[in-house]
Amino acid sequence: MSGRVAVLVSGSGTNLQALIDARHRQELSGELALVLSNRPGARALERAKAAGIEALALDHQAFADRESFDRALDLELRQRRIDLVVLAGFMRLLTPWFVGEWYGRLVNIHPSLLPEFPGAHALRDCLAARALRTGVTIHFVDPGCDTGPVIAQAVLDVSPLDTEETLALRVHHLEHQLYPRVVELIVRGEVRLEDGRVVKPPER
Ligand code: GRF
Repeated sequence: MSGRVAVLVSGSGTNLQALIDARHRQELSGELALVLSNRPGARALERAKAAGIEALALDHQAFADRESFDRALDLELRQRRIDLVVLAGFMRLLTPWFVGEWYGRLVNIHPSLLPEFPGAHALRDCLAARALRTGVTIHFVDPGCDTGPVIAQAVLDVSPLDTEETLALRVHHLEHQLYPRVVELIVRGEVRLEDGRVVKPPER
């Protein structure tokens, strides 16, 4: 795939920052061509602007329903000839229509070892379950909620002393290492989706 990447965000954008930093270190060949937030006040938009990346707010509250928001989103991506859509803390479910349009070119990062703890409260759910380990998952997006084909996972131990805050710090650290590497492999075509299965290089 050629490498025009859009990053979709809703919040602080530390994963976006990890991608920006990887790009500056020349570890990411894909061009970060657009950062789009459904929340106009997202800190991630400031990070994009500071890095000289086009930052666009598309406020979902201005749309009558999910489908009309997703159609506007799709148009913005196509107008910029985006090849790969990277969800990085984008807190909005996408319609099956949108997912179908971008299937195989749409990835997400989730703060658990999927299929454990899907949904918006993965860290809280992990602590409530007294899990001994958790981690992060990067996956292609399918129409389900956090159910798409898994590309990569990384594991960390959970301490009984962990709070959501301490766990979030370690999870973020893992995410920031893993996401840029995986995005680069997708941009280079070394990781891709074929017939619903993830093709990837052998582990080294
Ligand atoms: C990350 O933990 C990611 O796994 C989840 O949302 C969080 C986004 O954090 N999908 P940030 O906005 O990148 O700091």
